[in-house]
Amino acid sequence: MRKTIIVSNRLPVKMMEQDGEYVLQASEGGLATGLGSIYREGNNIWIGWPGQEISDSKEQEKITAQLRQMNLMPVFLTEEEINNFYEGFSNETLWPVFHYMSVYARYEQVYWDAYYQVNKKFRDIVLSVAEQGDTIWVQDYQLLLLPGMIRAEMPEISIGFFQHIPFPSFELFRLIPWRAEILEGMLGADLMGFHTFDDTRYFLEAVNRLLSAKTTANVVNYNDRAIVVETFPMGIDDKKYGELGQDPQVLSNIQQLKDTFKTEKMILSIDRLDYSKGILQRLHAFELLLQMYPEYVGKVVLYMIVVPSRDSVPQYKQLREDIDRKVGHINAKFRTLSWHPVQYFYRSFPMEMLSALYNFADICLVTPMRDGMNLVSKEYVASRNNNDGVLILSEMAGASKELIDAIIVNPNNIGSIMTAIMEAVNMPLDDQQRRMKAMRQVVSKFNIHHWVKLFMDRLQEVNTMQQNMLAR
Ligand code: G6P
Repeated sequence: MRKTIIVSNRLPVKMMEQDGEYVLQASEGGLATGLGSIYREGNNIWIGWPGQEISDSKEQEKITAQLRQMNLMPVFLTEEEINNFYEGFSNETLWPVFHYMSVYARYEQVYWDAYYQVNKKFRDIVLSVAEQGDTIWVQDYQLLLLPGMIRAEMPEISIGFFQHIPFPSFELFRLIPWRAEILEGMLGADLMGFHTFDDTRYFLEAVNRLLSAKTTANVVNYNDRAIVVETFPMGIDDKKYGELGQDPQVLSNIQQLKDTFKTEKMILSIDRLDYSKGILQRLHAFELLLQMYPEYVGKVVLYMIVVPSRDSVPQYKQLREDIDRKVGHINAKFRTLSWHPVQYFYRSFPMEMLSALYNFADICLVTPMRDGMNLVSKEYVASRNNNDGVLILSEMAGASKELIDAIIVNPNNIGSIMTAIMEAVNMPLDDQQRRMKAMRQVVSKFNIHHWVKLFMDRLQEVNTMQQNMLAR
């Protein structure tokens, strides 16, 4: 029977060490939900890293057996691979360049060598299960070489690739010393997907200029193969967020929030710790508001959740300290006996609390400097069953191309974020509802299941097209 193999750096579950034992924790991420309907079926499989360094071979065998029961297959990474492949090339080279922060990028040969080797490690595991007729769907920037590596061994197998982060414009991408190898790796796929038309266009331009590959509209002709490059904006499981609003635990959390924040308007901010998210700029805008318009003192609260992430990468460590300092500064300067301007949490929250916050917050402030899509903005919209609430969204997030009824801001323009907050705080209910309804339609129609189906159907069409071309 033909099967589908999903490959991503992380598995949809994480191994956590608890009292000397490894326990599994399921991921709540959008991708895990969307692809859940695929990898759990029949003999389909999801290949990825379980998120922990596990070096003991007995332990590895035990974990492999446990994961295989769930249609999952682990790729174990050594400490050195975690340092050089994951933290190194993926997150200190590709991540900053692809997010237009090239000054943070390090171009180290050891990082590249590890990236190449780990992509090969993933390839070997894919090859150990792949059979002719299977479909392979590779996810994201940690595995850019994998499509090409698989193609070299299985020239006829169907391969899709989706990139969840932006693809930068040519002038940024060309900075990477191994740029040609990266493009060649990606072009091993039959169908490549990006979140926005701009990402797609930039990729096509890079291929055209760096590989001199012939591109016609959205098709690249390379090494006698036709590769289709298209835009597939990723959605979320909107129903799940709508329904969570009725969950008893969520309702009780909402009540608690109502009791705590009786008179203030809540501005919600939720991100992974990352310099691409514009967290400091957001704090700056909030500070400016309190400074320039003291009538907002005591009236608004910034509820800020920062989820720990990649904390051994130097820039992330630094950012954490900068946020701590900025929050401390704002609170020290403006707090009153009964009011704290910034409620700051550096940890992850359970789904029931996130849902309560999405339901309760008057405003959701999402101002990344650059973001492939940004699912928080869509989760807020999907949670607003009453059609009220205001979304402030950065024009640098992929989601801004779809959620055009948000208040759209340039995240570098601190003054405009401040004005957007004032506009949101004072927005009449009918205006909120008109905008929210329009955004909810988009989020509901183009949900995660739609995204998965669109990509998989298109991959099949592309394969049929290629077979017809060969038969001619
Ligand atoms: C982004 C990337 C994902 C990544 C996630 C969390 O959304 O597109 O590929 O898994 O961040 O980052 P982490 O480094 O913890 O996997």
